[in-house]
Amino acid sequence: MFDKSSLSFRFTLLVLLSMTLASGALYMLSLDVYKSEVQNRARTVSDNVNDFGAWVSQYGRVWVKDTDSGSHLSEQKYVELKNIKPVGEILAEEDLGKVATFYSKNPALAQREFSEVVAKSESKAKFRMTSDNYMNPANQPDSFEKEAIRAIKAGKLDEYGEFSQTEYRYARTLLVKDSCLKCHGEASSAPRDVIDRYGSANGFGFKAGEVAGIISVRVPVEFSPLTLAKGVSSKTWVALSLLVFVIVLPILFVRSAVVKPVRVLTELAEQVSTGRKVDLNDLVIDEKSGNEIHQLALSIKRISASINIMMSRLRSK
Ligand code: HEC
Repeated sequence: MFDKSSLSFRFTLLVLLSMTLASGALYMLSLDVYKSEVQNRARTVSDNVNDFGAWVSQYGRVWVKDTDSGSHLSEQKYVELKNIKPVGEILAEEDLGKVATFYSKNPALAQREFSEVVAKSESKAKFRMTSDNYMNPANQPDSFEKEAIRAIKAGKLDEYGEFSQTEYRYARTLLVKDSCLKCHGEASSAPRDVIDRYGSANGFGFKAGEVAGIISVRVPVEFSPLTLAKGVSSKTWVALSLLVFVIVLPILFVRSAVVKPVRVLTELAEQVSTGRKVDLNDLVIDEKSGNEIHQLALSIKRISASINIMMSRLRSK
């Protein structure tokens, strides 16, 4: 059955080989699509962080009431009243107890709190802001981030990314704008509350147009044949099962249209060659058939007929 030199064995082997090559190509293709999807996800995250920072920047800082997360620039106390009272009105005795505290957040602080919320969330892509001249030691860059900042500065890049086996790390360039300088310019002219909180040693001396730092994003890479299979929809499974027919049908065709008739003809030719009297008159084949196997059968039939004629001539002599 598994004669290595048989046509059907070789053909099946060829089909299997082509299938393996096709699967390999498909795998590489999906890996590529997956990678660019991961890259786009990292880009989207940094776009969102940028946009969120821009929202805070519209107001310079935002103020949050009562709940202090531990990080804020300054603190202000306001009187919270049941009804809005005209400015200048003297507060009643009972309103004096209703004092609320507000805390201010600048863009980077708000972005850091945003990143902490995302870090705790279900979201797979995590981010943070960092710089080689960082104000907050908690934002100190790690080795990838240092390398990203170096490459961005050297190549004047907008972004930088690296894939490892387990994750994609991405950096989006943050340029210094004029609006950044009131805090990151000279330490001597920085707001009092910034100096009070962060000191005057780091995070200052920026110039407009320079690289201020990066938004650093990490997205896990979860690509394996298993995750690939899990992500496949039921429609794709139907399409893949149809593909199995694409593979099986040619094998069946070659078996029935080539291999089997060739076996029968081989048997016949062998009988003719051993001089046994074979009656090939039952073999009715259209002379004009375009099927190569039919033509081969016709030739064998003619050979057999000539041999029969020669034999009877010999016998009659
Ligand atoms: C109102 C003052 C203020 C302004 C304006 C401001 N920053 Fe900052 N920036 C800060 C503070 C404060 C921190 C530290 C926040 C923290 O604790 O995480 C910071 C942190 C950062 C960080 C993270 C690394 C570090 O230094 O800790 C980057 C990057 C950064 N800022 C870039 C910018 C850019 C770019 C702009 C202008 C688009 C800007 N900042 C405008 C005050 C400011």
